[in-house]
Amino acid sequence: MPDVPTKILLREDEIPTHWINLLPEIPGGALPPLHPGTMQPAGPDDLAALFPPQVIEQEASAEHEIAIPDEVREALGLWRPTPMYRARRLERAVGTRSRIYYKYEGVSPAGSHKPNSAVAQAYANQQAGITKLTTETGAGQWGSALSFAAGLFGLEVEVYMVGSSYDQKPYRRSMMRTWGAEVHRSPSDRTEAGRANADHRTGSLGIAISEAVELAAQRPDTSYSLGSVLNHVLLHQTVIGQETIAQLALVDETPDVVVASAGGGSNFAGIAFPWWREKQRRGLTTRFVATEPMACPTLTQGVYGYDFGDASGLTPLLPMHTLGHGFVPPPVHAGGLRYHGMAPLLSALVAKGEVEARAVAQNETFEAALTFARAEGIIPAPESAHAIRSALIEAEAADAAGEERVILFLLSGHGHFDLAAYDEYLAGNLENPGFSAEERDRALAELPQGAPSLA
Ligand SMILES: Cc1ncc(COP(=O)(O)O)c(C=O)c1O
Repeated sequence: MPDVPTKILLREDEIPTHWINLLPEIPGGALPPLHPGTMQPAGPDDLAALFPPQVIEQEASAEHEIAIPDEVREALGLWRPTPMYRARRLERAVGTRSRIYYKYEGVSPAGSHKPNSAVAQAYANQQAGITKLTTETGAGQWGSALSFAAGLFGLEVEVYMVGSSYDQKPYRRSMMRTWGAEVHRSPSDRTEAGRANADHRTGSLGIAISEAVELAAQRPDTSYSLGSVLNHVLLHQTVIGQETIAQLALVDETPDVVVASAGGGSNFAGIAFPWWREKQRRGLTTRFVATEPMACPTLTQGVYGYDFGDASGLTPLLPMHTLGHGFVPPPVHAGGLRYHGMAPLLSALVAKGEVEARAVAQNETFEAALTFARAEGIIPAPESAHAIRSALIEAEAADAAGEERVILFLLSGHGHFDLAAYDEYLAGNLENPGFSAEERDRALAELPQGAPSLA
């Protein structure tokens, strides 16, 4: 047996007791969301129509750590702590001298990291007497996670699923309905936002968010629930990174680089934020690489400015990297990465040079996914395959420089409902869909006027 085991496991009583809040630690201070009418900081009242009090408190909290309620920690115990693996077979398959570790979130009931926030949000809504949640879903992972979590806490759920994913992934729909949710293809004819965007047949996360927000704002017994981007969602995901700190300590390793995919930023924040704080405290030299699709290159080709979180302009303005709220990304299979914006906390760290960003193309991510699946066994979600490709780029760069790096990446979910995409790749039919400079410029020209410049 090698000295480092293949699986590095923690006991159930080692599930973190607190979430880590980076909001008070952003260098130079974090920027507030703005009310689009007044351009003044959006306060709790601006969010009260959509979110329960506990979530609003978490969104703006100045505490460095927030205790995880016992009920939430108990629900997390259904699948946490999640395993970490030393990817020895992958290292051999690609012939690297680097040591690669991955944290696997696909063991959750919904198959990804998303339930970490879903159980926390469902609990907070139940505590506030809310009986129904509306939400959007891209890949179907968040919709599944919330359908599962809402069931645990006795809430109903209505899910608006991005059209292209709805068509590509019928069994994600079945999964959500099995857990008791109602699922609609977005754009739908059930909302103003859906009807106004009926021409965009493939849909987008921005449009689906508008539909879910519109419905929640109309009813006092209904809240909206978001699966990424906002501070509280990133906060809930920090259980991931905290576990990896304990797991790598067991094998006496420190990462030279931490890699994850970035759609709205929550799985990346989940693994990277606890390590970023560790870096400041212990004086580490760890680098961080957020990896996005070339088809939706928010961090690498977007602008850093104030923009709406949804396509119809219903949300407060968020300080973030954005391709423009009207940008409809091409329908790549990594549906969860097709979002025009990026979490404000992650955007701030990228803008300050604390986190690097990298864009990778669809075909190279599927090639990496196959290499990984054949070496390690797990079939990754297309979103997670971006992290694998990026980790392999790090390993190649280390080998070229004659270095051995410790590479930690997050395998955010499995791809068991993405096999149609694998079939297309295996048949040689998968493309690298792109967009024209005009399409991007048109969307960027529609950024809200009058907000302060962040450039
Ligand atoms: C498996 C998986 N990974 C990553 C993401 C991207 O989201 P985020 O950037 O919030 O982690 C998604 C979103 O649906 C997902 O399903």
